[in-house]
Amino acid sequence: MLAAYAVAADAENPLNALEVGEIDPPSTPDGWVPVRMKAGSINHHDVFSLKGVGLPADRLPMILGCDGVGIAPDGTECVLHTVIASPGFTGDDETLDPKRSLLSEIYPGTLAEVVHVPQENLIPKPAGLTTTHAAVLSTSWLTAYRMLFTNARVSKGDTVLVQGAGGGVATAAVQLGSAAGLKMWVTSRDEAKARRALELGADQVFASGERLPGRVDAVIETVGAATWSHSIKSLRPGGTVVIAGATSGDAPDKAELTRIFFLQMRIQGSTMGTRQELKEMLDFLVEHNVEPAIDSVRPLAEAKDAFAKMIDGDVFGKLVVTMD
Ligand SMILES: NC(=O)c1ccc[n+]([C@@H]2O[C@H](COP(=O)([O-])OP(=O)(O)OC[C@H]3O[C@@H](n4cnc5c(N)ncnc54)[C@H](OP(=O)(O)O)[C@@H]3O)[C@@H](O)[C@H]2O)c1
Repeated sequence: MLAAYAVAADAENPLNALEVGEIDPPSTPDGWVPVRMKAGSINHHDVFSLKGVGLPADRLPMILGCDGVGIAPDGTECVLHTVIASPGFTGDDETLDPKRSLLSEIYPGTLAEVVHVPQENLIPKPAGLTTTHAAVLSTSWLTAYRMLFTNARVSKGDTVLVQGAGGGVATAAVQLGSAAGLKMWVTSRDEAKARRALELGADQVFASGERLPGRVDAVIETVGAATWSHSIKSLRPGGTVVIAGATSGDAPDKAELTRIFFLQMRIQGSTMGTRQELKEMLDFLVEHNVEPAIDSVRPLAEAKDAFAKMIDGDVFGKLVVTMD
């Protein structure tokens, strides 16, 4: 079958580690159900996989992709929940299972014509969502949802700073937060992306690192080293930085420890979301008429072009690939 998969680890040129072509369908655990994929999308996670981060050589080749929508054996169109709990895990929050994985880490990912998943990881797509919009929700959108509504401890009218404008998590956070009545402030390295963030519902936009007109109640941080100090300096006393990623590296020049304890800030890690949060988010999107920002749509056979765009940072919204 056709798939996009990692064949090596290449930290310098991740595109060299990517193959898009025919691959024998890999084996999956007994009892998992086959899903005929309609569309998926690319996350920064897939680029990290090509660099060898979290994907050791003994798991190669590995089909990439954490996001997707497809047709279950009973004909239902479903969004895939990509967090796979480890066998025997009984808790009600699978993101806290220390042995959880995402599709494409241990089990084959979504950028293929057919994917196998546990039945409970299939969430029926609401009729009010298009297939293209449903294809982008499993990872960055779910992460943004949990960051904002479970972990940021904000309520209507509060101000939230999103570091970065164009990324999957950043665009999702702006659209979700604005639909929920939060005041969304956004930074970007790029003026054009900042302008587009305003179109998505941001209240104000700033250049990366620019001094803000006031302190915010929470920060959505996925950029990491490049924006960490600015995030801490922009937060009000007692506010929350929710951090879910470190695209620019995880070793900031200054950890800002003194400011963090003196102003009693809360630093909250966040990873993915639960199956329940994914269901709630699908309902939220339909209820608020939110249409996820899409950068571009191309067939799976042209997935390499989508990866190149993400590696270049030349993205606004989600990169979608289609399988039918
Ligand atoms: N923990 C989890 O469960 C989880 C889930 C999803 C994603 N993540 C992580 O979150 C991060 C973002 O993921 P994504 O898929 O949204 O990736 P992405 O599309 O690559 O987004 C990168 C974002 O970072 C900004 N950015 C990049 N380099 C920057 C720099 N040097 N200075 C300032 N801003 C910079 C970009 O903003 P501008 O171009 O507008 O400046 C863009 O908004 C990744 O590290 C990913 O691994 C974690």
